[in-house]
Amino acid sequence: MTGLVRERARLVRLLRLAGRARPAALIACLLLAAAAPAAMSLAAGWLVGAIAAGGDVVAPLATLAAVLLVQRTAESLQDPLGATCSRSIDGHVRTRVRQIALRQRGIAHLEDEEFQDLLSRASDRGESWRVRSPGTAATGQLMIVFRAGGAVAAGAILAGHFPLLALLLVAGCLLQRSYALRQWSSTVSVEDGLTSKQRRTEYWAEVASGAEAAKEVRMFGLADWVMERRLRAHTETTDIMWTARMASLRRQAPVAASAAVMALAALLVPGIAAATGRLAVDGLATCLAAAWAIFQATYMGQEALDIAYGLGALRALDQLDAPGADPGGEPARYGPVRFENVTFAYPGAAEPVLRGLDLTIEPGEVLAIVGVNGAGKTTLSKLLTGLYTPSAGRILVDGADLRRLDVESWRRHIAVVFQDFVHYSGSVRDNIRLSAPEIVASDDDLRRAIHVAGASDVIEDLPAGLDTSLWHTGTGGTDLSGGQWQRLALARALFAAEHGRRLLILDEPTANLDIQAETQFYQQVIAGVPGTTVVLISHRLSTVQHADRIVVLDGGRIIESGGHADLLRAGGAYARLFRLQAERFTAAS
Ligand SMILES: Nc1ncnc2c1ncn2[C@@H]1O[C@H](COP(=O)(O)OP(=O)(O)OP(=O)(O)O)[C@@H](O)[C@H]1O
Ligand SMILES: [Mg+2]
Repeated sequence: MTGLVRERARLVRLLRLAGRARPAALIACLLLAAAAPAAMSLAAGWLVGAIAAGGDVVAPLATLAAVLLVQRTAESLQDPLGATCSRSIDGHVRTRVRQIALRQRGIAHLEDEEFQDLLSRASDRGESWRVRSPGTAATGQLMIVFRAGGAVAAGAILAGHFPLLALLLVAGCLLQRSYALRQWSSTVSVEDGLTSKQRRTEYWAEVASGAEAAKEVRMFGLADWVMERRLRAHTETTDIMWTARMASLRRQAPVAASAAVMALAALLVPGIAAATGRLAVDGLATCLAAAWAIFQATYMGQEALDIAYGLGALRALDQLDAPGADPGGEPARYGPVRFENVTFAYPGAAEPVLRGLDLTIEPGEVLAIVGVNGAGKTTLSKLLTGLYTPSAGRILVDGADLRRLDVESWRRHIAVVFQDFVHYSGSVRDNIRLSAPEIVASDDDLRRAIHVAGASDVIEDLPAGLDTSLWHTGTGGTDLSGGQWQRLALARALFAAEHGRRLLILDEPTANLDIQAETQFYQQVIAGVPGTTVVLISHRLSTVQHADRIVVLDGGRIIESGGHADLLRAGGAYARLFRLQAERFTAAS
């Protein structure tokens, strides 16, 4: 019980996030709206008494009109004020949720279903029956507090004539409300269990109407198939929710029965007293209006459910917050990087991708990593950048375990082009500068990186050069081809490498490049950043053959290591792959 009160009090305290003025105005409106029904019952009694006595009706009528006016004004202001307060609170909560998602050093948690469920609950995406909004819950809670006050005020007026009836109505209505709420709240916990299913619905909706899958959906004629998937995922959750809500509705029968009894008592007790001459007509009017005010103040509206949903969101936020921020650790010094007996399996995966891998990356060397699809090359780059932590073994940076280092300071030594690099919807300038936002760069700095990446022609052809907006899902933007984007991503990493990042990781940097760019890649790009350590991941052996050292990854381990000529002489896996690729070109010519 105290826990519940504490949670409700916490909801009300959330209003501080909306500033001072708006919550204060909201409180004033709620106070006036809650006090109005009780005041109206007094005014109604006064008016009826005046009519019965043949006295002056102007004053009571004017009072009644004034109360009505105040009530209507307060009620009409309370919705927009409540909405702005709750939006403001929800904005703070969403920011907090994003901070929590971002503060972990790695990204493994983002693939964890439970974490995703908590994120969905804490920050609503709008698939629920009611929006999971702590803001709406906070304003709803405030409204309930004032309405309860209104019910007690009306009860006090009724108690002036019938104390027992007043007690029955106030206590009965409040009990009834809490019973009804408990029934409906159970549907909220059912819904909480469906969060991951709801995410699947959102996924299919995005496939159906989003830009990403639009081409294939049309070309493969997938519209019906996708819609059917969406509908199936949707009905899977709605069927369960429908059953839960119907069960709740059936359990509301006692509420309806007790409401009927109370309404009857509210009519009969003052009615009989008036009929038998124990209550004057003005008292009758006051009592009926006061009873009506009690019913009005205690009815269960949507705000009760909003509170249940909003409390669920806060509880999810607490759970997300629980593990605490990752410890910062020592700042990382750049030096040799050593994978020592590293084993790694993705969360929930049965088999490890890397198994006891040993590898040293010396400062200033160009190390190429080759291997078949799925060998674990990209995974290795994700461990190297601290996005995942080894399941066993360790990664040493200049002799210090990466786990104990401040990962952000380590990442400031690294420039990277991921295999699935991001196309940022911003200007060309932003797309390049993002890799090292702390650098105050001149256009010449940017142009040099663009030149080394072989992207000068691409930028020159753009309508506004570096300022061209690559906002490809809106108006006034330009999009680039796959290869042009790849050159831009390269320029982004090169810019960071030229401005002090010591380790350049390139994962399949030539995958989208034309054959001419691919052949020039090593001389142009790798030679363009002398002294930088380069980890070059590529299937295309022509891209890697000039590397200082090439390692072949297979079965989660390094199976071969050496220069191109050594590996060819050794006649192992690398030599076989190289011959296979060379034969393809010879056969084609
Ligand atoms: N996020 C992930 N969750 C679970 N498994 C993953 C994840 N990413 C990759 N894998 C699995 O890890 C293995 C290695 O993947 P990785 O991307 O490292 O291979 P790769 O050598 O880079 O392949 P490619 O040459 O195709 O780029 C694959 O079997 C893949 O299915
Ligand atoms: Mg890969």
